[in-house]
Amino acid sequence: MARPWTLLFFFLFHFLYFRSSFSLLPPFLKCDTLISKPTTHSSNQLPDFPCKPPYQASFPFCDTSLPTSTRAHSLVSLLTLSEKISLLSNNASGIPRLGIPPYQWWSESLHGIAPNGPGVSFNGSIPSATSFPQIIVQAASFNRSLWSSIASAIAVEARAMYNVGQAGLTFWAPNINIFRDPRWGRGQETPGEDPMLTSAFAIEYVRALQGGNWESSEEIRNDKLMVSACCKHYIAYDLENWHEFARYNFNAVVSQQDLEDTYQPPFRSCIQQGKASCLMCSYNAVNGVPACASEDLLRIVRKTWGFQGYITSDCDAVATVYEYQKYANSAEDAVADVLKAGVDINCGTYMVRKTESAIKQGKVKEKDIDGALFNLFSVQLRLGLYDGDPRRGMFGNLGPLDVCTPEHKTLALEAARQGIVLLKNDKKFLPLNKNAAETLAVIGPMAFTTKLGGLYSGTPCRSETLHEELKQYVKKISYAPGCIDVSCLTEAAFDDAIRTAKEADYVVIFAGIDTTQEAEDLDRVSLLLPGKQASLVSSVAAASKCPVILVLTGGGPLDVSFAEANPRVASILWVGYPGEAGGEALAEIIFGEANPAGRLPMTWYPESFTRVPMTDMRMRADPTRDYPGRTYRFYTGSIIYGFGHGLSYSTFSYKFLSAPSKIGLSRTFKDGSIKGSLRQEGKQVYSVDYIPVDGMQNCISLRFSVQVSVMNFGKLDGSHVVMLFSRGLEGLKGSPEIKLIGFDRLHTVPFKSTGTSFLVDPCEHLSVVDEYGKRILPLGNHILRVGDDIDHIVSIEID
Ligand SMILES: *[C@@H]1O[C@H](CO)[C@@H](O)[C@H](O)[C@H]1NC(C)=O
Ligand SMILES: *[C@@H]1O[C@H](CO)[C@@H](O)[C@H](O)[C@H]1NC(C)=O
Ligand SMILES: *[C@@H]1O[C@H](CO)[C@@H](O)[C@H](O)[C@H]1NC(C)=O
Repeated sequence: MARPWTLLFFFLFHFLYFRSSFSLLPPFLKCDTLISKPTTHSSNQLPDFPCKPPYQASFPFCDTSLPTSTRAHSLVSLLTLSEKISLLSNNASGIPRLGIPPYQWWSESLHGIAPNGPGVSFNGSIPSATSFPQIIVQAASFNRSLWSSIASAIAVEARAMYNVGQAGLTFWAPNINIFRDPRWGRGQETPGEDPMLTSAFAIEYVRALQGGNWESSEEIRNDKLMVSACCKHYIAYDLENWHEFARYNFNAVVSQQDLEDTYQPPFRSCIQQGKASCLMCSYNAVNGVPACASEDLLRIVRKTWGFQGYITSDCDAVATVYEYQKYANSAEDAVADVLKAGVDINCGTYMVRKTESAIKQGKVKEKDIDGALFNLFSVQLRLGLYDGDPRRGMFGNLGPLDVCTPEHKTLALEAARQGIVLLKNDKKFLPLNKNAAETLAVIGPMAFTTKLGGLYSGTPCRSETLHEELKQYVKKISYAPGCIDVSCLTEAAFDDAIRTAKEADYVVIFAGIDTTQEAEDLDRVSLLLPGKQASLVSSVAAASKCPVILVLTGGGPLDVSFAEANPRVASILWVGYPGEAGGEALAEIIFGEANPAGRLPMTWYPESFTRVPMTDMRMRADPTRDYPGRTYRFYTGSIIYGFGHGLSYSTFSYKFLSAPSKIGLSRTFKDGSIKGSLRQEGKQVYSVDYIPVDGMQNCISLRFSVQVSVMNFGKLDGSHVVMLFSRGLEGLKGSPEIKLIGFDRLHTVPFKSTGTSFLVDPCEHLSVVDEYGKRILPLGNHILRVGDDIDHIVSIEID
């Protein structure tokens, strides 16, 4: 077993070791990188399925009148040991004597069905699927019902593809790791840096994907699943590679405090409220123990959060326990460690190959495998996989006509409209008047991209370049990329771009990054625009007739301070990866057919942030060591754009309509003795009194409602995101400066006020986490805030 002090040695050693011996290892699947597709799918091929006649009559596991657990136990009891072992892989073998075909557990669906796992193929009667905006863009909408509608649409397309043999039923999404560092290549796949926002997204996504919104949802509520969603990657995974550290060997050193108030909340919500049926453990170690081998971390999931489902390792993350992390002393120990910790299935072949010898060596018992198989079969049974012909099941009527439907395509457009963020708009330069613009120049390398979905994209229903729809709004359009590609290494084509820009009334410059710059196994080293892109923007802006519009692509934050400060750059829009209809939504926003309301779900840091070691997991600033902290909750340095930043063509003002000014704890504690013990627990540390939250008897009765109204002072209707924050108490060390406790996206009309209300749970929203990872509720004044400076004080008192 590795100890923290030995890990440093292992990192250095194994980095060199692996460089030279990589090819000697078994083929190493990188989860989520494209792998060769099985070619077994053909047009209109139906999936093979268990419990076909004559089997359905002979086996209890095929008997739909029995409870799921009885059926699962029965199936386990019918298997030989070698059959059991052959099922411990994402590519699970068939058991022909029981009429069970092979099953591929690994399908992907992050923002639309995607072929990144071998379970999905676009080679068949369904050649494409709706490609919604990447998650970071969806998050920017701050609209729960949008997230839910999208996940429901994906579930329909998933079932349709399953029915024609082009997808499985178990999907490994959503990715809900915290976007902790702006360089992270996969930050784009997540809902951003805030645990509350990420939790809210996870709940909507998982509920809807698993079938929560299906019309006849009676059966779904009874534990059936439309498809299975997977909360990943548990936990503290948000680094691909930095210096000698890679996700495969990284040991994330995480304090109990950060675990409790940053890293765990999205997973807790995904499981407790989302009721996800799968959890994926990550490659990295946490405090010296690989996540997939951590009994402590996985026990919380099953025992404390009540998880019902299967736990899969990330791809070959069982092999890494031994081969990269050197936590286990042998392959067999690695298998034993992860099974004991609670992993049920291995993405990859490691467990299939090593479990038999682990049993022979006495390290694994057959009953450990039985437990894993029980969890796996239970999920398959809930999916209806052993209910016979899927075409006769409740989703059997879904097929090619249910994919890329007009409704889903419209939803993809709506999602892009809602997620695009207006970062700068000097003197209300935007929107452009669609009748006034004669000529428009489209400049910049990103204008010509058709890869609008970012990582985990499938074949979209429609494919067009990002600038294409601008044509609809002007008489004449001209183009000049300025840079040959994203990396923009030379200025050779600048003159052409400058000439083209000079001749046009308006200029839109498309700059930014794509998945050649930020991806799986690829973190950025700089937050600046690649190569000479910034110089292209400045040169074109200086030469054009009017100030220019800058459109930024990519999921990670960019240091565009040069453009923010340049008066020749009138407006800046961030489109991220806006999905298949992104170009249309962008054109609508530029020409005022849609009013932007997206808000950044992550802080945009300056380039100087890159001096911070990516490996430092601490959220809180440490001024004594020149550590600035991370995310808007704790970061103390300067910013380019803050969390929640996003402009509209309207302006808005806020008012608290109603909120209590005092919450008396005695209301909850009628019994005098409890009140007495509460008084004792009103401990003094720091400079305020507090009560431990786990010592509170009844948090629910303390909940209160806060009513807020918003007034639209613009000429246009527009959606507006209201965010409710709570502000930390003075003198409470380690409490965030400010934190999001509620949000709502509202429809507003000019010169009318629109109201919304938030339910505040003091134990959850006003508590802070102490250095031991315990939640405490400070007594005294708490500040609630909407907008930049509208505050309301509520005092928590024991009376
Ligand atoms: C698509 O499926 C057909 C029929 O199985 C097969 O012949 C063909 O090679 C496949 N094409 C690709 C690109 O996989
Ligand atoms: C999956 O396993 C089967 C054996 O059960 C094997 O024939 C097949 O090649 C495997 N497929 C992949 C993609 O590894
Ligand atoms: C939220 O999204 C839904 C689904 O697309 C949409 O109907 C609704 O108008 C959106 N809400 C606001 C206020 O934009």
